[in-house]
Amino acid sequence: MTSASTDDPHVETRSIAAGAADLTKVYGTGDTVVEALRGVSIEFPAGEFTAIMGPSGSGKSTLMHCLAGLDVATSGRVHIGDVDLTGLSDKAMTMLRRDRIGFVFQSFNLVPTLTAAENITLPVDIAGRDVDKEWFDAVVDRLGITERLSHLPSELSGGQQQRVACARALVGKPDIIFGDEPTGNLDSRSSGEVLSILRAATDEFGQTVVIVTHDPRAASYADRVVFLADGQIVRELSRPSADDVFEVMKNLDDGPDASAASGTAAVTAGAHEADPGDDAATATDQSAGDHTPKHAAPAPEVR
Ligand SMILES: Nc1ncnc2c1ncn2[C@@H]1O[C@H](COP(=O)(O)OP(=O)(O)OP(=O)(O)O)[C@@H](O)[C@H]1O
Ligand SMILES: [Mg+2]
Repeated sequence: MTSASTDDPHVETRSIAAGAADLTKVYGTGDTVVEALRGVSIEFPAGEFTAIMGPSGSGKSTLMHCLAGLDVATSGRVHIGDVDLTGLSDKAMTMLRRDRIGFVFQSFNLVPTLTAAENITLPVDIAGRDVDKEWFDAVVDRLGITERLSHLPSELSGGQQQRVACARALVGKPDIIFGDEPTGNLDSRSSGEVLSILRAATDEFGQTVVIVTHDPRAASYADRVVFLADGQIVRELSRPSADDVFEVMKNLDDGPDASAASGTAAVTAGAHEADPGDDAATATDQSAGDHTPKHAAPAPEVR
């Protein structure tokens, strides 16, 4: 964990669990070039739950993968706690991921030959640590997969596999959990269980949680919602309701022309905007019409 260094005891310092500075990611070359991230700067304060939203193809997964050290950015920097990922050796990166990061992938990435229970404890086993049995039981119970622990992934429904993937990220109690649409395949009850356990991970254990979601209700569990469009952060809301989130999504979907036509540059809809003193909020709130996507953003999937 890092803290903003200051000699003034009156200046609040907050520890930052992870962050990115001016991150770009370019895929392909020539005619097929895609700028998936175009200068993203963001910090994730420790113990906070952040949701990342945005249209399909806006760069959410790319950002998550770069933050978690699963992909390498084209330029810019990423840090986890006080460790700068730039130039870290493969071995150091693997150890950092193993010890400090939990990841729920968009595709669940379960090992097909291992049971649900073995998949859940795999990262802890690989790290040579002991599984906290009480916490394991609490997690699988809360996620409703206790009866499925001896099954292989192929014997589980999509939603059950997703909950196993969530349990795997939670059981090792990592500093930071990244979830790429962790509720994407779940009905509303299971989705609520996953979200409340992620909420508990922050509130009760001080873990930091960052999820990508298309669901305004899921985003409303977060302390902060960050909106990506066309590889850039275009908006940020602090503790919004699902309706607040929905309104912003709708506006992103409509694009800047639609907001100009309606005479509203940005939808605030009663949202508690991020503290104007917050660098991230002021630096990134470009929704007042100066954000011009290169190409029309596809419709966000609202599930
Ligand atoms: N390996 C790759 N090679 C080329 N282009 C890629 C690659 N991975 C992603 N992209 C492109 O980068 C852009 C951002 O992709 P990304 O997966 O980050 O989007 P996303 O916001 O997660 O979308 P979704 O909501 O559909 O999951 C897209 O235009 C995508 O086609
Ligand atoms: Mg994605």
